[in-house]
Amino acid sequence: MRYPSVLMVCGALTFMLAGCTTNEQVEPKEPTTQSSTVNQPQTESNESESLQEDSSTVNEGIDEYMPPVHQRSQFAEFRNHTSTSGFAEDIEIDGIANLELDTLILVNKEIALPIDYEPSDLVRANIDFVDSATEERQLLREEAARAIEGLMLGAKVDGVDLKGTSAYRSYAYQVNLFNAYVERDGKEQAMKYSAPPGHSEHQTGLAIDVSSASVNYQLTQSLGEKVEGKWLAEHAHEYGFIIRYQKAFEKETGYMYEPWHLRYIGTEHAKAVHTLNQPYDRYIEKYMK
Ligand code: DAL
Ligand code: ZN
Repeated sequence: MRYPSVLMVCGALTFMLAGCTTNEQVEPKEPTTQSSTVNQPQTESNESESLQEDSSTVNEGIDEYMPPVHQRSQFAEFRNHTSTSGFAEDIEIDGIANLELDTLILVNKEIALPIDYEPSDLVRANIDFVDSATEERQLLREEAARAIEGLMLGAKVDGVDLKGTSAYRSYAYQVNLFNAYVERDGKEQAMKYSAPPGHSEHQTGLAIDVSSASVNYQLTQSLGEKVEGKWLAEHAHEYGFIIRYQKAFEKETGYMYEPWHLRYIGTEHAKAVHTLNQPYDRYIEKYMK
């Protein structure tokens, strides 16, 4: 592992925490309060987002964050299970997500992905992204990529402007991001809007954050009140996506309302979740029984 210089790391973190009022941002723009008008931290810098993607800053994050022991040790055991053991029907084992659920995989505050999980079929989603979305942030699992392309086309036909801001995030990237949020807002606050490493749906390659010009491509709860946010809430399920973190389920999911965070589960299930109006966690638990 190549270790970054202190200067590089400090520079990157300063940038990440400060770059919150420019128009095109990725994850560090995620809101820090539960209010519908999000308080964006003040910026001292308008630099580009490129420093975030410096692998050296990611490495630094890994050094800071130690995953729970079970996250480090259970993957091998997980892989050794066979369907005949009945494991294929489980949502998780000892807090580790069942990868066999494929696009139905459940990841939440209690259930993590294996630390070394990286989807094997990541492809670039052929949609408009904000300028700051680096190549890796434009990746999704193939099925989800095709689905978001359909969604964006449908939105365009309806005269709705949307762009992707951030899709796939590796474990290492989430380490970097989560640590930066904790430093900025404290752990308790950060936990309301950012998943600890291993617990983010973005690592599954099945989640994408989207936003629109009407909110300056920010990740803000006010998106939900705009035409674009309303369109998403009404139509995302037709393309296999759900708005994963709903206002009504903040207590249940543990995360604040995120009208921008789309999770792909396929059209059949997305329609069911939409109709039942349940948090995905509850839906999939019942479905698997
Ligand atoms: N913002 C969501 C919870 C994540 O970090 O994955
Ligand atoms: Zn998200």
